[in-house]
Amino acid sequence: MSLIPEIKPQQSIELLKELHILTRDGKINQDTRRKLKQVYHLYQFIEPLMADVLAEKGSLTLADHGAGKSYLGFILYDLFLKDKAAAHVYGVETRQELVDKSVELAQRLGFEGMSFLNLTVEQSITSDALPPQVDIITALHACNTATDDAIRFALAKDAKYIVLVPCCQAEVAAVLRRKKNETFGKTALSELWRHPIHTREFGSQLTNVLRCLQLEARGYQVTVTELVGWEHSMKNELIIAKKVGGAKKSARERQESILRELNLEELRQRFAY
Ligand SMILES: C[S@@+](CC[C@H](N)C(=O)[O-])C[C@H]1O[C@@H](n2cnc3c(N)ncnc32)[C@H](O)[C@@H]1O
Repeated sequence: MSLIPEIKPQQSIELLKELHILTRDGKINQDTRRKLKQVYHLYQFIEPLMADVLAEKGSLTLADHGAGKSYLGFILYDLFLKDKAAAHVYGVETRQELVDKSVELAQRLGFEGMSFLNLTVEQSITSDALPPQVDIITALHACNTATDDAIRFALAKDAKYIVLVPCCQAEVAAVLRRKKNETFGKTALSELWRHPIHTREFGSQLTNVLRCLQLEARGYQVTVTELVGWEHSMKNELIIAKKVGGAKKSARERQESILRELNLEELRQRFAY
């Protein structure tokens, strides 16, 4: 058993060194300790979802979008999936050098059930490199609209679970900003985003509200919580969605009302489909 409290008994020390969570002489790296804590924090939420899918199907596919160095995918695989033959994790990432590193690391560790794809999230929706159905989708701080593409991916792949920690999305704030003058005459609600800092923050909140309504409208039950103790500079909202049934008309109607009321109908393609 490891003497470092953060390291779990079944965990690969080699992986932690490769991810620079441990130094070469096996000490915890203070700079990446926070990253490990964050991924563990998320792990607590994702482990029961993986267990549920495996219990139900006996197999599991998980796609991690905007994977970066794939800390999340590697830790999920190492802690829970590596001894399960019918499990596969796909990391989707646009930076070729990060994809190459992850491929090489997975090979070295013998993590056969991991693939890394140099694709945008949008491209991955139609790529043959991914299966037609994927059980769990994760996107941790995937930049800007990559989270929206991850939602589109999840809906196309009929995912049972979707776990999102969105980054700031700039698109909604940009539309609010561009249409400010026009909207002022239409609704007193425009006071909510009159000042530039409020435009940015309200835009960011509204983005996640519209995402949640989109998921509800497509048959998901959604919980939204805060990841306490994460960097303050990041948005740390955790959205977990579980497929529970058919489309929910009332959620679509609420979403449509918001888009109409706030003069954002041009964003329908992004959020209401
Ligand atoms: C802030 S990093 C987060 C990385 C990782 N998920 C984590 O939390 O450590 C965002 C990553 O998403 C990738 N990315 C940005 N837009 C993307 C897109 N449209 N498709 C796929 N990857 C994207 C970036 O290259 C970057 O590695």
